[in-house]
Amino acid sequence: MTVPTPIRISVALVSVTALVLGVWMGLVRIGWSLGSPPAPGTHGPILVLGFLGTVIGMERAVAIGRSWAWITPVLAATSVITMLTGAPTELTGALLLVAGSVLVALFAVAYRMQPEAHITLMGIGAVAWVLAAATWLAGEPVPALIPWLAAFLILTIAGERLELARLIATTRSSKRQLAGAVAVVIAGSAIAWVYADTGARIAGLGNLLIALWLLRYDIARRTIRLGGVTRYMAAGLLLGYVWLAISGVLWISSGLQYGATGYDAALHTLFLGFIMSMIMAHAPIVIPALAGLAFPYGPVMWIPLIFLQISVIVRVTGDLNGSYDVKKWGGMLNAIALALLVLVVVVTVIRGELAKRALRTV
Ligand code: HEM
Repeated sequence: MTVPTPIRISVALVSVTALVLGVWMGLVRIGWSLGSPPAPGTHGPILVLGFLGTVIGMERAVAIGRSWAWITPVLAATSVITMLTGAPTELTGALLLVAGSVLVALFAVAYRMQPEAHITLMGIGAVAWVLAAATWLAGEPVPALIPWLAAFLILTIAGERLELARLIATTRSSKRQLAGAVAVVIAGSAIAWVYADTGARIAGLGNLLIALWLLRYDIARRTIRLGGVTRYMAAGLLLGYVWLAISGVLWISSGLQYGATGYDAALHTLFLGFIMSMIMAHAPIVIPALAGLAFPYGPVMWIPLIFLQISVIVRVTGDLNGSYDVKKWGGMLNAIALALLVLVVVVTVIRGELAKRALRTV
């Protein structure tokens, strides 16, 4: 049984809405007077689980080809609506708990079909999603979810690199190094439940170790010397790993103290610098795979990628120097970088689809 197209389209539309509204909430929280977005306190969860959780859930559901796997993106998209409408946190937390648990089940099924390290890694990432939701459901405030939200994304992406990217690492010792780094991330995030500062520092060390591992073993280090889309993707990946390493150092040094100088930098080196660079790098693969749309690479793709790097540098500099205006402008430039990404994606897809049609009519 396949999932009806209207459901797929609705889920995709809700995820885009989560991105747009999440960024709007961020702009208002950083100090721009841009009206009153709904539920600004849900900025982090709506972007990580509402937007990215839905997209990752869709990607995995398409990959495994089982209709029950769509429970994850459908419930994650529903949680966007409950967050925006101010429904009780218990309801949103419960939806996200079930959505994450179905994702864990999906990886368990996938592992039975293909017992590979990348599936284990993504499965542990899905467990981190469940633990973030459980923490929220238990009544903890949003900052308490951050180590698990970060672990969900980092482990999912590291797993996707193992799956997609033909990493150079094949030796047992390199795999052991990765397993060690993952254990540090999980231990730190768990310790943060009780000792937030110490746990965040340990999780930061794990994030740094994973970044160094990826920088060492990802084939991007070699493919950066090639041209075209291969070089573009490699550049996005390597820049993302550098941001992950920087965020690791900031987590270690600051302990993620809510509201302190450097807190915003520690968060957004990871959530914007690392995650958004990864998304930009993977767009030429993920868009055709997920939506079946043509996505012909063009050098214009470099514009949002470079703009994003500059915008994160501005924001981090402002935050670390305690300069409110520079940080605020950095936030605006971040939003423009994401808008440029959306624009370039839309234009590229239209160009690709028109070229496809023209070919068919020849
Ligand atoms: C595009 C522009 C963005 C702006 C202007 C922005 C702004 C902010 C601000 C002002 C905070 C509060 C920081 C503090 O209390 O010191 C915050 C927190 C956070 N942001 Fe962003 N952000 C943006 C993008 C993102 C993205 C893309 C993600 C995730 C992929 C993200 C994830 C988070 C998380 C997890 C938190 C902490 C939880 C929370 O306070 O909601 N942000 N953001």
